[in-house]
Amino acid sequence: MIEVTFYDREPELKEMMDILSMKPRLITFVYGPINSGKTELITHLIEELPEDYVVFYINLRGKFISNYDDFVRALFKLDREKKEYKEILKTISEVSLKSLKFTGIPITEGVLDLFFREKTYEDVFEFLEDYLTEIAKNKVPVLIVDELQKIGDVKINTHLIYELFNLFIRLTKELHLCHVFAVSSDSLFIEQVYSEAMLSGRSDYLLVDDFDYEQTMDFLDGYGFMDGEKMMAWDYCGGKPVCLVELINRKLRGGDVKKKCEDILKIKVSQLRDLLDLLDYVKPQVLLEGEKYYVEREHVVEILKDFVDRDTVSFKGYRPEKHFMIKRNILFLDPKEGTVRPQSQLNLLAIREVMQDA
Ligand SMILES: Nc1ncnc2c1ncn2[C@@H]1O[C@H](COP(=O)(O)OP(=O)(O)OP(=O)(O)O)[C@@H](O)[C@H]1O
Ligand SMILES: [Mg+2]
Repeated sequence: MIEVTFYDREPELKEMMDILSMKPRLITFVYGPINSGKTELITHLIEELPEDYVVFYINLRGKFISNYDDFVRALFKLDREKKEYKEILKTISEVSLKSLKFTGIPITEGVLDLFFREKTYEDVFEFLEDYLTEIAKNKVPVLIVDELQKIGDVKINTHLIYELFNLFIRLTKELHLCHVFAVSSDSLFIEQVYSEAMLSGRSDYLLVDDFDYEQTMDFLDGYGFMDGEKMMAWDYCGGKPVCLVELINRKLRGGDVKKKCEDILKIKVSQLRDLLDLLDYVKPQVLLEGEKYYVEREHVVEILKDFVDRDTVSFKGYRPEKHFMIKRNILFLDPKEGTVRPQSQLNLLAIREVMQDA
């Protein structure tokens, strides 16, 4: 049975390789609409890296972090085989044939116990700095935190995220020790980060968007799509990888691509209708700069109407409602451009259909 394999996103991979080939200088925030292939791209990049890189990939998805202990557990991984943490460092630094990848920073029971006893970030961050300094003597350490927004609001004495940003700045801009990539599809979080004074001039932003037209056509060519089917896929799904993969799987199993497209759209339309119906009864609140604002249904409709004849609007105006729609993953905010657009082509089509009778 043929399976869908990774489609090589050359421009994005090249950009990341370019960053990795230079001295660590900035924190790189990788952002993009939901399901655009950020995690897939990073996973592939890690596999392709030459032997002199050591990657620590920490995915916070599915992790519940509300206190210091949770955070330590998310960051580190106990290596039961090693008694001394120097043994771990030695294994990592020794020449191996492949680049090394760790899902969590390997440490010993002794170190972990110490963190749980002391309960201060200072110890953890100091340890990390020493640890990475040791590795950097022979290899290039790369720290990747996926779904970073999960700790965006976590407060343990101070805001955890600021402590972490300080560490990242230290590792990149000051010590040039370690590459740091922070990945997130929460565009409101990225917007906050983007306007954060402490990160100004110390961070870079890499958009991993849905495939463009050429990439989409090329991707589908690999699975025997006819011209008509390719256009159908583009019209419905745009270049959303997850959606294209669904269509490919449907086709590979002898199913009807058109029917699948229509079915997925039907769901999106029904979800949007439901949401507007709900707003007839309730007035949700959103928090902007610590103040609560009501979401007005008529403003939501105004925003959606704007998408009838265009794909992108400004982030300015009707802020609470835009916030609400972004949080609901219907709209995506690109903080670099200051623009808002639907999270996917399917969302755009659904908006246009629902607005016909609004
Ligand atoms: N380059 C690619 N080649 C083939 N399939 C891909 C590619 N990128 C993404 N996909 C498909 O799309 C799915 C979603 O991708 P992925 O989870 O990487 O998106 P994401 O942007 O990290 O999503 P999220 O916004 O939830 O973090 C993958 O499980 C995979 O099936
Ligand atoms: Mg992801």
